[in-house]
Amino acid sequence: MKSTVYVGMSADLVHPGHLNILKHARELGEVVVGLLTDEAIASYKRLPFMTFDQRREVVENIKGVSRVVPQATLDYVPNLEALKPDYVVHGDDWKEGVQQKTRQLVIDALARWGGKLIEVPYTKGISSTQLNKAMKEVGTTPEIRLKTLKRLLSAKPIVRLLDIHNGLSGLIVENLSLNTPYGRREFDGMWASSLTDSTAKGKPDIEAVDVTSRIKTLNEVLEVTTKPIVYDGDTGGRPEHFVFTVKTLERLGISAVIIEDKVGLKKNSLLGTDVAQSQDTIEDFSSKIQIGKQSQVTYDFMIIARIESLILNKGMDDAIARANAYLEAGADGIMIHSRAKTPAEVFEFCQRYNLLENRKPLVAVPSSYNTVTEEELAGHGVNIVIYANQLLRSAYPAMVNTAKSILQNQRSSEADNQMIPIKDILNLIPGTK
Ligand code: SPV
Ligand code: MG
Repeated sequence: MKSTVYVGMSADLVHPGHLNILKHARELGEVVVGLLTDEAIASYKRLPFMTFDQRREVVENIKGVSRVVPQATLDYVPNLEALKPDYVVHGDDWKEGVQQKTRQLVIDALARWGGKLIEVPYTKGISSTQLNKAMKEVGTTPEIRLKTLKRLLSAKPIVRLLDIHNGLSGLIVENLSLNTPYGRREFDGMWASSLTDSTAKGKPDIEAVDVTSRIKTLNEVLEVTTKPIVYDGDTGGRPEHFVFTVKTLERLGISAVIIEDKVGLKKNSLLGTDVAQSQDTIEDFSSKIQIGKQSQVTYDFMIIARIESLILNKGMDDAIARANAYLEAGADGIMIHSRAKTPAEVFEFCQRYNLLENRKPLVAVPSSYNTVTEEELAGHGVNIVIYANQLLRSAYPAMVNTAKSILQNQRSSEADNQMIPIKDILNLIPGTK
C-alpha cells in the first residue's frame, strides 16, 4: 500500500517553494494537502487574498496532489489524528517563529504511530512576504475589497477597524503590523469616521461636511490602500438621498455603511445629552433601512443600524426593542453606542442581543470605555471593534507641540526629535523619489 503524505499549506500565492515541497511529498507516496481555512490563517496572519474555494481549486490541480482536505486550525493534530499519515512534509522555515509550537505538536503526534516529519530546505529567492508586497502595489478591485469584510467576519473572532481621515492615515492602517508570539497582528480595515473627517477639515461633526466631500476623502484613501472600509453614514440623511449614498459606496467598493437613528441636526454622540439631539422613531428608521436595502445592487454590501438609546438615556429595553426592529427591517448588523466610562451597559446589551433570533454581527466603539480589551468584547459577542478617532486625536497634540516649540524658540531645531526625519518622510511614500 502506498504511504500517505500530509502537507499543510495556505497556498494563497503559490510559488516554486510550494511546488518544491509537493515534489518531495509525491516522491514519498500519496499526497493529501491540508488546506488551511480562512479562519486558521487569520488566527496568525492576515486573511489570504484568495478564498478557500479558489485556493482549493488551484491546489487540487497541482501535479501529484491526490486529495485536498480543510485544515481548520493552525494546529495540524486534529487532521493528523484522523488520517494517521506516514509522513508530514513541510518547509524547514517553521523551526523558528510562530509555527515552532505547531511543529513540535506535529512531531509528537507522528511519534504516536511511527510517522515521520520530512523538512524540505526553504526555497531561496522567493517569499510570500515579497509577493504580498507586490500584490499590495497592484492594488485591489472594488468588488474584492467590498466582499472582504464579510470574509473577515466569518474568519475572525473580532474584526479590528481604525479611523481614517486622509490618504496618510489610510496608509498607517494598511501597512502597520506587529510581530507577536501569536503571529502577525494588523488592523483589518478602516473606519471612515465623520468626526475625524470633519475635524481634519476644521469643521464640526454635524453633517456639514457633505457626502460629496466625504466621498472625496474616501477616494484619497481608496487610491492608496486595499483593506476594507466601513463608512460612517451619520443619519443617512433623507431616505431619498440615502439611496444614492448606498449606490455610490457600493460602486467604490466600500463594505458597509453605518447609519444612526437620529433626526434633525446631528451632533456627535459623545456629547450625549449635553446637547439637544433627537432620536428617530423606530418606524421611520426601519423604513430608511428598508429603502437602503432595496436600493443596493451587490449581495455583500452591509447596512448596519446604529442605536443611540444608551447615548440618549432611553434605556436598555428601548435599545433592545430597536435592535430587534432594525434587524427585522433588514439591517445586516447592529452598532450599539455608549459613552459610559465602563463597558457594563454594552455588555448588558450584548447579553440580551445575543438571544435575538435574528442576531447579526454586532459593532462596538469603545472610545469612552477604553480599558476594555478586544478579547473581552469578543467574549461578549462583539464582532467588530471600531477605534473611531485615535489616529486624529494623537496627531493633533503632536502638531500643536511642534508649533509651540517653533513659537517659543523661533526656530525648528528644538522640535526635531519629535518629528519624522526629512530623509524618512521622503522615503515614506513610494514614488516620492
Ligand atoms: C465617528 O467616529 O464619527 C462616530 C463615532 O460616529 S462617535 O464619534 O463616537 O460618535
Ligand atoms: Mg460619526
